[in-house]
Amino acid sequence: MENSCKNVYITTPIYYVNDVAHIGHAYTTIIADTIARYSRLIGADTFLLTGTDEHGQKIAQSAEARGKTPKEYADEISGKFRKLWDDFDITYDKFIRTTDEEHKIGVQKAFETMYNKGDIYKGDYEGYYCVSCETFFTEKQLVDEQFCPDCGKPTNIVKEESFFFRLSKYEDRLLKWYEENEDCILPRAKKNEIINFVKGGLKDLSISRTSFDWGVKLPESINEPKHVMYVWLDALMNYITALGYGTDEKNMNYWPAKIHLVGKDILRFHSIYWPAFLMSLELPLPEHIAAHGWWTRDGDKMSKSKGNVVNPKEVADAYGLDAFRYFMLREVPFGQDGDFSQKALIDRINSDLGNDLGNLLNRISGMSGKYFDYKVTSKDVEKFHKKELNEVNEILENVESYIYKMQLNRYLEDIWKVLTIANKAIGDYEPWTKMKDGKEDEAMALVALITNIMARVALLLDSVMPEKISKIAASLGIKIDTATYKKLLVEKALLEDTTITKVEQLFPRIEELLLEQAKPSDVSKTETEEKSCKNESTVLEEDNLITIDKFFETTLRIGTIVEAQEVPKSNKLLKLQVDLGEGRNRQILAGIKEYYDASSLVGTQACVVANLKPAKLMGMLSEGMLLAARDENGLSLVRPETPKKSGTKIS
Ligand code: MSP
Repeated sequence: MENSCKNVYITTPIYYVNDVAHIGHAYTTIIADTIARYSRLIGADTFLLTGTDEHGQKIAQSAEARGKTPKEYADEISGKFRKLWDDFDITYDKFIRTTDEEHKIGVQKAFETMYNKGDIYKGDYEGYYCVSCETFFTEKQLVDEQFCPDCGKPTNIVKEESFFFRLSKYEDRLLKWYEENEDCILPRAKKNEIINFVKGGLKDLSISRTSFDWGVKLPESINEPKHVMYVWLDALMNYITALGYGTDEKNMNYWPAKIHLVGKDILRFHSIYWPAFLMSLELPLPEHIAAHGWWTRDGDKMSKSKGNVVNPKEVADAYGLDAFRYFMLREVPFGQDGDFSQKALIDRINSDLGNDLGNLLNRISGMSGKYFDYKVTSKDVEKFHKKELNEVNEILENVESYIYKMQLNRYLEDIWKVLTIANKAIGDYEPWTKMKDGKEDEAMALVALITNIMARVALLLDSVMPEKISKIAASLGIKIDTATYKKLLVEKALLEDTTITKVEQLFPRIEELLLEQAKPSDVSKTETEEKSCKNESTVLEEDNLITIDKFFETTLRIGTIVEAQEVPKSNKLLKLQVDLGEGRNRQILAGIKEYYDASSLVGTQACVVANLKPAKLMGMLSEGMLLAARDENGLSLVRPETPKKSGTKIS
């Protein structure tokens, strides 16, 4: 409950209006919405901001190509973004447009403040400009003397009078900020890249243009009517103008932002320019700037010309919005690139959502209905299930920290651990046998344990899957609100007596792809032609290819088995000490006891998955996995043909 009393301000990037929304935009917005919903639930005063970035040469050019004025064009595309977020039930508190009058006034006020302070001066700019990225480059930075190092498109030589921001002045203060605030940039690996970049030296930044006029004018007091502001200065300021900076400052109490969510491509702007502007304005700095990775489709970069851009609305319409939200948050560790494939989405729906979550709810209503006329009382849960209850409470105590460190996949993984405890308890305690044996109180305690677990899980999953969770809550007879959150998750109280209502299957099994596969060769296909084709019987297997990058996410090494012991009471497990050349042995639990005698393994080698998250098996830590192949003749470990040094990488 660290945030329950504080204000929580969360922002998405503001989206360029030169394109329609795709899965990358939906990803950022859904993460932001999830954190905002969670913050509200725990009782924090929360403000979620999204919007559109409407100025700049790129947008002026796109509008012209369509025979529209920039404003007409911006109105149209901005409206589409807003409609999509409304369809997606995104709980934004403000949708800002950089063409809003208040925004322009706020940006001018900021410019004036920085100018009066001496942080802005007039000079001449000569360099290379990429319109697509709206970014300046030096000759040295270009690829093949001409092309943008970020997007590969040709740059233009720009030589014009320009105002400059004294970015170089803030180099040391930026480095100090990075150093003193461990999590100011997330994930931490990205932070190191930024630190190295700043250490390489910062040049003053050109922040005005004279060669086009689709932008915010400089403040009148400066009297330079030819100049418009550089689009990134204009855009970044949205985070404060949305709260009323420079106009009606009533929402400025939300500042500083708790989290600015951005894609990795725009991290530099947010973690170098933006804090430097804020330092100049003498405003506090954001708590976290969190950069997520890039989405591909079926292992391929998405682009309009390839016709393989994932349309989030189509996916949500076909598979369900909540399932889509869950998939995106669960599938990829924050910061890493992710791949969208229908096969992966279907696997998540059928396995995590259908089997682990949906079926558990069915089991609650099935058991409570059959044995207790749908009535559930928690009175004996502590008596019979203290152990499970403690395990659940312990896991759930830590989940909040994952949310604000942007480890949403770990948040979900831990919630799923709790679901596993619940599902396992049913198998372990067999309420049907208890009923047969006349131990009704024990059967009731088990049903109530599961119901209590489901109630806690529902509260925690509400921010991820609000629609489905409202159904679970209705079925359990609980409310999803701050008071219930505090009671069940903070005070760890048990549910009052409740009556379960039956619900329909929450996540019906999906057996086939519900959308047409992307056809990369079909470049002529327009968005409207990309219709969903439900019931098309494409086999899932076809969707199973991965890129080489995906393969290399797994680190495989040669391990030498130094010790091997049987695990008592386990039919399957051997406990191995394996040398991976790290100066210490790793303990690995392998399910190979039926096929190998422990002593025969000592001194032999095997192929080991070395970067698997450690897991506990029968209460013991396992820090890797051995590769093995099994057919009808049994199992055999995968080993090098001739001995190799311990730790040798397999590629
Ligand atoms: N207008 C700027 C942001 C200004 S914020 C002050 C901008 N807009 S954008 O529309 O081009 O991109 C918005 C966001 O979408 C960025 O965070 C970007 O990383 C993200 N994505 C665009 N394509 C993406 C993927 N394929 N995958 C994931 N996110 C990607 O940049």
